[in-house]
Amino acid sequence: MPRILITGCSSGFGQAIAARFLDEGWEVIATMRSPSTEGLPPSDHLRIVPLDVTKPESIEAALSETGQIDALVNNAGVGMLNVLEGAEIDKARELFEINVLGTMAMSRAVMPGMRRRRSGVIVNISSSVTLRPLPALSIYSASKAAVNAFTESFALEAADFGVRARLVLPGSAPETSFGRNAVARMGMDVPEAYGAFVQTYLQTLRHSTDKTSALDVSNAVWRAVTDVYAPMILPAGPDAHALFQKTGGAAA
Ligand SMILES: NC(=O)c1ccc[n+]([C@@H]2O[C@H](COP(=O)([O-])OP(=O)(O)OC[C@H]3O[C@@H](n4cnc5c(N)ncnc54)[C@H](OP(=O)(O)O)[C@@H]3O)[C@@H](O)[C@H]2O)c1
Repeated sequence: MPRILITGCSSGFGQAIAARFLDEGWEVIATMRSPSTEGLPPSDHLRIVPLDVTKPESIEAALSETGQIDALVNNAGVGMLNVLEGAEIDKARELFEINVLGTMAMSRAVMPGMRRRRSGVIVNISSSVTLRPLPALSIYSASKAAVNAFTESFALEAADFGVRARLVLPGSAPETSFGRNAVARMGMDVPEAYGAFVQTYLQTLRHSTDKTSALDVSNAVWRAVTDVYAPMILPAGPDAHALFQKTGGAAA
């Protein structure tokens, strides 16, 4: 039975991806900072393992108990909705530690096993925000653009050893707790001078009709993992698909 490790399974996309792979008969290692089965389907093939992607000792401990990993999904991430002047640099550093360095550290940690077996796939969850510039998202977008650049370069090194790396770019998914978690962890202290601008922008976001669901994301991850011909970049959700096509990306 193939085995997948997914980061950030305490909520949102992580749970949907875990459920999809369990349905398809995979062994799922659902990792999260505070272990809980809440939101995950009961299954003999599900293992919950504590993992904080920013802590090397946590990564080492998690991988020491998982055995061979056939697929890794770097899903853990945090957002930040603020203009640059309102953002604390310490918070930006924390965000990059999770979104960028956490993704690199996890990929680096599973790579020796995959390289030796000459097989494996790493899927990094980026975002459709990387497909066009958006205000009040500069730091978050920069982190996901870094994930894109990292993944595309790393994929060239890994391919030599039969290991694939792919990107999934979800669109906006208000059904997850992403926005709430972002504000809780990163704050949203918008400077007064930008107040009206940010309010107007948030209104336009709320009025956009095309939205991404967790199902769209789990479908895209499934394809990225199981289809050896899957393209490097898979948009997930109607809004992400529309943006991707506008930027000249082939319909995936
Ligand atoms: N929702 C959207 O609109 C959207 C759109 C595009 C891309 N994305 C990306 O999709 C991914 C999942 O987002 P989501 O919508 O499912 O949001 P979510 O519900 O907030 O889930 C994020 C997950 O990341 C985990 N996490 C945060 N810091 C971590 C750390 N240091 N170590 C391990 N896990 C950590 C969280 O766990 P804790 O409970 O421990 O904090 C949580 O399980 C993220 O990478 C996000 O950037 C989301």
